[in-house]
Amino acid sequence: MTITLTIDDQEVEVKEDATILEAAKKVGIDIPTLCYHPDLTEFGSCRVCVVENEESGDLLASCVTPVSDGMEISTNSAKARTARRTNLELLLANHPNECLTCDQNGMCELQDAAYNLGVTEVSFSGETTDYEVDDVGPSLKREPSKCILCGRCVRVCEEVQGVSALEFTERGFDSVVTTAFDMPQSEINCANCGQCATVCPTGAITEKSCVSKVWGALENEDKHVIVQTAPSIQAT
Ligand code: FES
Repeated sequence: MTITLTIDDQEVEVKEDATILEAAKKVGIDIPTLCYHPDLTEFGSCRVCVVENEESGDLLASCVTPVSDGMEISTNSAKARTARRTNLELLLANHPNECLTCDQNGMCELQDAAYNLGVTEVSFSGETTDYEVDDVGPSLKREPSKCILCGRCVRVCEEVQGVSALEFTERGFDSVVTTAFDMPQSEINCANCGQCATVCPTGAITEKSCVSKVWGALENEDKHVIVQTAPSIQAT
């Protein structure tokens, strides 16, 4: 069964179990996302994909909200854009300000989102988390301080690889993705498949060889562009 809704004044017909994000994609409307990944189950943690229900004024996470018949959605209202920027700033407020030296510079979805939403300053400041880097394994490097708790690595390890080497632990501000007993990734049942690094939207998990290979393959001009366009995010 299909239903019809309106997104940014465009009528769209989708299956009744579709999400707003899927409906928007169908008519070519781009909504920013971070925790969403098309190959993984829905999670709805980052709230960067919020849109406005024009009737009620409610803000809805488009990646986890199912469509309903006659719904009228605005993806670009002032309320939705402000909420997206605020949610992104909250993520950046507890994220190291070291884009220029990060292994993921130029390939980071968080950096892209900040750039696309025009976030160059963070309005929030306060305590930040500081975790040790796990760099002892053969192929993967984990930097939990760069984690935005999107859960993509946890889901891909469980749902695609069937390994469950990574999991959330603690609560609230202390929440972190880690290994069993917080052991180095090299000492657990990790298969070093690299799927977690592939889906990680930041530099929290990277493949050791991948970055140097990509960077080495770039022309000098491209490297220059990457460094020049990296947003410099300052706490205010
Ligand atoms: Fe929708 Fe993260 S992408 S909540």
